[in-house]
Amino acid sequence: MAKEDRFKKIIAHCKEYGFVFPSSDIYDGLGAVYDYGQNGVELKNNIKEYWWKSMVLLHENIVGLDSAIFMHPTVWKASGHVDAFSDPLIDNKDSKKRYRADVLIEEHREKILGKINKEVAKAAKRFGDDFNKAEFVSTNGRVLKYQGQIDEITRRFVEALENGDLEAVRQLIVDEKIACPVSGSRNWTEVRQFNLMFDTKLGSVAEGAHTIYLRPETAQGIFVNYLNVQKTGRMKIPFGIAQIGKAFRNEIVARQFLFRMREFEQMEMQFFVRPGEDAKWFDYWKKMRINWHNALGFNQDDYRFHEHEKLAHYANAAVDIEYNFPIGFKEVEGIHSRTDFDLKKHQEFSGKKLQFFDNEMNESYTPYVIETSIGLDRTFLLLLSAAYCEEDLGNDKGKNDKRIVLRIPAPLAPVKLAILPLLKKDGLPEIAKEIMSELRFEFNCQYEEKDTIGRRYRRQDAIGTPYCITIDHQTREDNTVTLRHRDTMEQERISIDKLKTIISEKVNISNLLKKLTQ
Ligand code: GAP
Repeated sequence: MAKEDRFKKIIAHCKEYGFVFPSSDIYDGLGAVYDYGQNGVELKNNIKEYWWKSMVLLHENIVGLDSAIFMHPTVWKASGHVDAFSDPLIDNKDSKKRYRADVLIEEHREKILGKINKEVAKAAKRFGDDFNKAEFVSTNGRVLKYQGQIDEITRRFVEALENGDLEAVRQLIVDEKIACPVSGSRNWTEVRQFNLMFDTKLGSVAEGAHTIYLRPETAQGIFVNYLNVQKTGRMKIPFGIAQIGKAFRNEIVARQFLFRMREFEQMEMQFFVRPGEDAKWFDYWKKMRINWHNALGFNQDDYRFHEHEKLAHYANAAVDIEYNFPIGFKEVEGIHSRTDFDLKKHQEFSGKKLQFFDNEMNESYTPYVIETSIGLDRTFLLLLSAAYCEEDLGNDKGKNDKRIVLRIPAPLAPVKLAILPLLKKDGLPEIAKEIMSELRFEFNCQYEEKDTIGRRYRRQDAIGTPYCITIDHQTREDNTVTLRHRDTMEQERISIDKLKTIISEKVNISNLLKKLTQ
């Protein structure tokens, strides 16, 4: 299936099965803002639980925080967001579409990289087992030409960004003959910077009102609470503060579903370390975070690290974890070594000392910070992208049978168990409801009695329910039910009193957490 088709299908599936709706849907939606439906909110809560517990439960030196969305306006002056939190934008004069200039260049580079990959795949096929990839890419004329092109684009792009030279960014787009994907023309405006923060007024009367911002990242709530948490929690360096919360960005180019939203959620953790130990902890968190992703059990080739070429004003090292979404490899998480920039700035702007007295070293210092920052909505999209499968089940009574199944890891699935009486009579619903009344305390169960059993299985497959049980006439005789496994569709006969143990074992979030400690 073409990647664009797959993306469209996932979006349609999210709406049809109660995962994600456009915000204010009955008013035709609001650009790049989405609501999570009955299954979406369960999945989202499970992702949060997995992340939260992996931070706060598994690390004795990480504690949580829930800071307010509204913050003192000076926070954003100190952090640099008022002056520097902007995107370079360019318009196509024919289509009137607006693009992020850096994204146009990035996608152009990806296209050239795609040509290299094609050459490699062709050669691998031709040479079979004798193929030596490293030798091929370092000697093949066409590959070297493409690689040279990529290197030159990267060099010019980084130089332009470092010098803040927007005209040079535009010139690169022109020289590379990058065309508007909509109009196909190269009729570009100049590149302009656009600040992404939403502002609003605090206070009821116009003259007394202050302009404040909706936070564009949750991290600043952590920085301004550094001292509160360190002192009241008697935390010793190194220690971390974790937070999950909403963030807001006035994204101009927002047309990729949950990937780029104007209101979204972040899961961020700031880890405060001794100066000079930042590189060591940066490597540690890089490993921890990729392990967290890998524990989900999806194809590891669909993840990659992307080192930043141009570092943000606050960072001395930064890497993204990218996932191969149906829209290509894109960032899902950032790991940043933020130095002592933020604490020093808040110290300067607030006049409060934000330091740590290190008993072992017998000195005070401003801690350095390693940040891990993952988008909850992007993780949700990652899960949907990795889990969505269309399966051909072969020929059944002359009909081609198909199913859509979401292979969501069982601990994250919105519903863990569907309880299905085979018929709506003969006392079967009563037995089913009795099972439900006991198991609902253990995990999320759903009772369904409408339609044929086959249709009910398909509906549960489509929302990723890992287990279904069917209550039939035999249940009345021997207290057993049919347990059906989502992924294999295998069925087995199980005694009712074993259900709790068998299912709990598989759907418990600790299954994922244990993988992180192995
Ligand atoms: N505190 C650092 C920070 O905010 P970022 O790379 O700008 O860094 C971190 O954002 C993560 O937040 C990203 O990796 C992404 O997953 C998520 N994110 C950022 N902008 C987003 C948007 N407009 N829509 C959805 N998720 C977004």
